Amino acid sequence: MINFKLNGKSTKLDVEGDRMLLWVLRTDLGLTGTKFGCGESLCGACTVVVGKEALRSCQLPVREVRGKEVTTIEGLAGNGTLHPLQKAFAELGALQCGFCTPGMIMNAYALLLKNPRPTRDQIISGMDQNLCRCAAHKRIVEAIESASRKV
Ligand code: FES
Ligand code: FES
Repeated sequence: MINFKLNGKSTKLDVEGDRMLLWVLRTDLGLTGTKFGCGESLCGACTVVVGKEALRSCQLPVREVRGKEVTTIEGLAGNGTLHPLQKAFAELGALQCGFCTPGMIMNAYALLLKNPRPTRDQIISGMDQNLCRCAAHKRIVEAIESASRKV
C-alpha cells in the first residue's frame, strides 16, 4: 500500500512500489494531463512536482513518493481559476500542439516555487532540459517571465 498526497488529497493505492508514477497517474487514476514522451527521462513531458522538486514521472517508482506531496497539471488551477502560468501560456500562445505543455508548466511551477523572480537567463537554463518539438521555446520563456510577475 502506498500513501501520498495528490493535488492536495490524501491518496492510498494498492500498487506495486516499482510501478512508475506516470502510469499510476495516467492509467490507474485517469490523470492524463501528465504526458508520456520518451519514457527515458529525456524530454520532460511527464514532469510532476514532488514537494518543490520537478521530477520525471516516467522514471520515478511510485514508492519514492510515499508520504510526499505530488502536484500534477490537474492540481494547478484552484476554484476554477487557472494558475498564472496556465493563463500566461494560453494568452501568449506558448504552445502549438500542446504535448509538451503540462511538463513545461510543471517544470516552470517548480522553478518559480524556488525562485519567484527569475531572470530570463535563469528561466532559459531552468527550462533547458524540457523539449518542445514545435519550437515554441521563445514564447514559453516569455510566458514564464510574464507569470513570474503575477505569482
Ligand atoms: S516521458 Fe518522461 S522524460 Fe520523456
Ligand atoms: S507545443 Fe508541441 S511539443 Fe511543444
